[in-house]
Amino acid sequence: MNLLFLPSQELLKLLRSFFISMSRSKGFRRFSERSTVGRKLSSRFVAGMTVEDALKAAAAVNKEGIAATLDSLGESVFDEAHAEHSASIYHQLLDEIKARHLNANVSVKLSQMGMEFDPALAERIVAEMVKHADETDNFVRIDMEGSEYTEATIAMTERLTARYPGRVGTVLQAYLFRTVNDARRLANQGIRIRLCKGAYKEPAEIAFPAKSDVDRNYTDLMLYLAGSGVFCGMATHDEAIIHRMCQAVEEGRVEKSAFEFQMLYGVRRDLQRKLAAKGYGVRVYIPFGNEWYPYFMRRLAERPANVLFLARNFFKN
Ligand code: FDA
Repeated sequence: MNLLFLPSQELLKLLRSFFISMSRSKGFRRFSERSTVGRKLSSRFVAGMTVEDALKAAAAVNKEGIAATLDSLGESVFDEAHAEHSASIYHQLLDEIKARHLNANVSVKLSQMGMEFDPALAERIVAEMVKHADETDNFVRIDMEGSEYTEATIAMTERLTARYPGRVGTVLQAYLFRTVNDARRLANQGIRIRLCKGAYKEPAEIAFPAKSDVDRNYTDLMLYLAGSGVFCGMATHDEAIIHRMCQAVEEGRVEKSAFEFQMLYGVRRDLQRKLAAKGYGVRVYIPFGNEWYPYFMRRLAERPANVLFLARNFFKN
């Protein structure tokens, strides 16, 4: 196939699929995570390799009036010791956030806590984390992964909310058809939702294939959630969608205090600062750690032009 003759939308789709497939490549992951070049490239989207790096990044954004959520990178863990080790990093984060008075919470992936091989183990580990968040006056956000875990993630969030109300929330993806019902289901229980577009590859039977439909659904869900009475995170860098939300605030249809914008570390820092300066709640998702490869590949899939950007900066520095 000659890529030069593909229409640009088709080429983009192809590149997105390529990076999503690469995000699952174990061989390339092992190689990249160990290489110095890989680490240097990932530093655009990853705050560093250690807990200290992440805490420093959180303190830096806090200084600019921006909150943080910390993500100790890692997913698809297949043994109990590894899952327990991953959780111990989160316990350390919760203690350090409190000790340093940071405006930060944590974001965790169930597959990093053993969900793929022992859901009961994952639930026990996450319940301990949410209990710790309750004791340290904090909050655990359960990130949403591929659709095979959507229902299990929502159901676990509901069970944990019953034990620790207000200390746990999850993420809904606007590309899934089911999300409109899930948004009502969670909002009716007062569960805090982060709304995102969705970063995984899903089949057309369950998800909108066209970006325009995802964007439209995102906007409808965002406006519904903002009026639901439950504080929600609008996770997007999409300026048109952000503008719609700001307009709703300016016209008095939505309270500023009903939501916060959430963005990824290293993406649209200008916009993060601009919104914070206008008095909007802004939270930055700060990932860190050695297991950065799948996360990094999904960021390239979202915006394949990032490859050129990274290459230019790599040779500049
Ligand atoms: P869209 O992809 O349409 O991008 C809009 C514009 O934003 C682009 O034109 C570009 O300018 C900029 N942009 C977007 N991504 C960029 C990137 N990687 N690099 C540079 N610029 C970029 N997904 C998921 O499935 N489960 C989850 O739990 C989460 N969690 C999450 C938390 C937070 C705080 C954010 C911001 C996002 C997520 N996501 C996620 C990822 C989300 O689903 C989605 O893939 C990305 O946010 C990109 O979508 P946008 O809404 O930014 O729009």
